[in-house]
Amino acid sequence: MSMPAPQPTPLRFPPHFGWGAATSAYQIEGAVKEDGRGESIWDTFSRTPGRTRNGDTGDVAADHYHRYREDLDLMRDLGLHSYRFSIAWPRIQPDGTGAPNQRGLDFYRRLVDGLHERGIAPMATLFHWDLPQALQDAGGWEARDTAHRFADYAEIVFRALGDRVPVWLTINEPKTVVQNGYLSGHHAPGRQDPDAAYLVAHHLHLAHGLAVRALRSTGVDGRIGPAFNLHPCYPADDSPDAAAATRLHDGYENRLYLDPVFTGHYPEDVLADLGPGSRLARGVVEGDLAIISSPVDLLAVQYYTPIYVTADGGTVRRRPTSEARWQQIHPEGMYDILTRVTRDYGPVPITVTENGLPTRDTLRPDGTVDDLGRIAFLREHLTAAHRAIAAGVPLESYHVWSLLDNFEWAEGYDQRWGLVYVDYPTQRRIPKRSAHWYRGVIADNAL
Ligand code: FCB
Repeated sequence: MSMPAPQPTPLRFPPHFGWGAATSAYQIEGAVKEDGRGESIWDTFSRTPGRTRNGDTGDVAADHYHRYREDLDLMRDLGLHSYRFSIAWPRIQPDGTGAPNQRGLDFYRRLVDGLHERGIAPMATLFHWDLPQALQDAGGWEARDTAHRFADYAEIVFRALGDRVPVWLTINEPKTVVQNGYLSGHHAPGRQDPDAAYLVAHHLHLAHGLAVRALRSTGVDGRIGPAFNLHPCYPADDSPDAAAATRLHDGYENRLYLDPVFTGHYPEDVLADLGPGSRLARGVVEGDLAIISSPVDLLAVQYYTPIYVTADGGTVRRRPTSEARWQQIHPEGMYDILTRVTRDYGPVPITVTENGLPTRDTLRPDGTVDDLGRIAFLREHLTAAHRAIAAGVPLESYHVWSLLDNFEWAEGYDQRWGLVYVDYPTQRRIPKRSAHWYRGVIADNAL
């Protein structure tokens, strides 16, 4: 008699593990001229010829501003516990300062109420790159004052929504603003100015710290933390030079963001590399680092790719890539980065707020979207996250990027990152095969 094949043991997640999905305002909302919304730097940038693929803009995007109820139902059908979205600053303060625009606040009130009605916890990001254009005209993140404007805006939002939002994230991926907005220039505001870039990093950190303090001073009872995209850096070969170059690269990719918030210091090697006269070094005012290192309640980690560093400080590809050329698929990197932050920065609770990949999804004649590549990617990354939890990482929740296909910044609508397919001509939503798979994972709390 033949024995039945052994069933693989399911990988069970801890009780109360939070299963989620993420989006951001400019990438899904559309309705850029409605209910008093002001212009953001992404309106300006995406409308500038040559800046985005096919000249795509977020004018309509996934039309979520009008279809949010349908999207809330999709989330309920998935069984999500947590939904991470962002609040568009230009909807709340059209010019970035002054009295709030009530219609903007009302939209997010309806959204968070709709989440609660469906048993889903809201997780709100305060800034996901859509800076009011009026603030950019006044210097943008190069101006120290923008950090104070951000704290004012944050306080308005805390007072309006604080009773219904248990978790706040301050600035989404300050590194991407620095690197893409101010070094390569392929994101808004499209600058290529290394000296400005690291001053911008400091002001983004200051904005984060001031917002943390604003939350505490309002007496609102939420948790708050930063959202960093962290890239594990590995030497491309065994040479001592590659090891040294990797260390410095790690400084620019990870420690420049983690250290000021969690230790109250900028990394010495990065400061030395930038030089004593850098605008970062000159921009730090007495007391700033105390503000920046105000205690946070959690760390949001976004993981997409590792980086392999050569002896001369360059980078090379070592892993398979995806439709996003910058991405290398390395699930072990999830384990490495999660265990590393816990080891180096202490037992701060962690949430993964982004992880995913774009796939070549097509709507088949039978009305399905067969994104097997996404299922494999998510399964492997969740397996690595599970191992990190077993190794002692206090990981409390995980969010797929993204709930919906959306406007992927300079790549426009070409890349599809969603669990749910968006047929842009009709705005019809079609859960992909990965959505059905993810619903099962959530229901079982296991892989
Ligand atoms: C992250 C962004 C997010 C999305 C994903 C693919 O860097 O935070 O908005 O673009 O990448």
